[in-house]
Amino acid sequence: MTKRVAILISGGGSNMVALVRSMVGDHPARPVLVASNDPQAGGLQRAADLGVGVAHVDHRIYGKDRSAFEADLNVKLDTARPDILCLAGFMRILTPDFIARWQGRMLNIHPSLLPKYRGLHTHARALEAGDAEHGCTVHEVTAELDGGPILGQARVPVLPGDTPETLAARVLPMEHQLYPAVLRRFAVGDRRPLFLP
Ligand code: GAR
Repeated sequence: MTKRVAILISGGGSNMVALVRSMVGDHPARPVLVASNDPQAGGLQRAADLGVGVAHVDHRIYGKDRSAFEADLNVKLDTARPDILCLAGFMRILTPDFIARWQGRMLNIHPSLLPKYRGLHTHARALEAGDAEHGCTVHEVTAELDGGPILGQARVPVLPGDTPETLAARVLPMEHQLYPAVLRRFAVGDRRPLFLP
């Protein structure tokens, strides 16, 4: 049966667009909702333009009460009845309760070759470390931040003169290849890691 996919974003949503565009034809999944913690997230309009339902739950209204924010996010998600939840540049830390509710059905893309550089500023950290290669990882979300089982990785070279911006610009197109490829496999129950290129 076709899987229903909800995508959570915080920003421009280029990975979301890649995921949505991939779910056509004989793809085993379809997008049912794009939701953001930021009503101004540019990706919401892009999703609407692609014909996908959109929702937002503004995290700032809830102050430090992450559980209340997530309860309202779950209301929006439950309305869409997703089988799979894709975090795509969703920049909120999730509580253990939210993660437990979606565990086994929730994926994330992270801009580093995990387990290297969990958290933020991954491109700068790869440069500071003098790494010869860098990349991105799609993984299952578990209670350990950026620590769940790896479902796929894509590598790029680090080149002389790279800045965090040039490196990010080299990684992002690989994200757009990797995430749809992993989602397609995951939707039919294939959790074997995929390595690109
Ligand atoms: C992507 O590079 C994604 O890997 C990163 O945010 C960017 C979102 O771009 N995610 C994280 O850093 C998660 N910790 P997008 O909105 O254009 O997809």
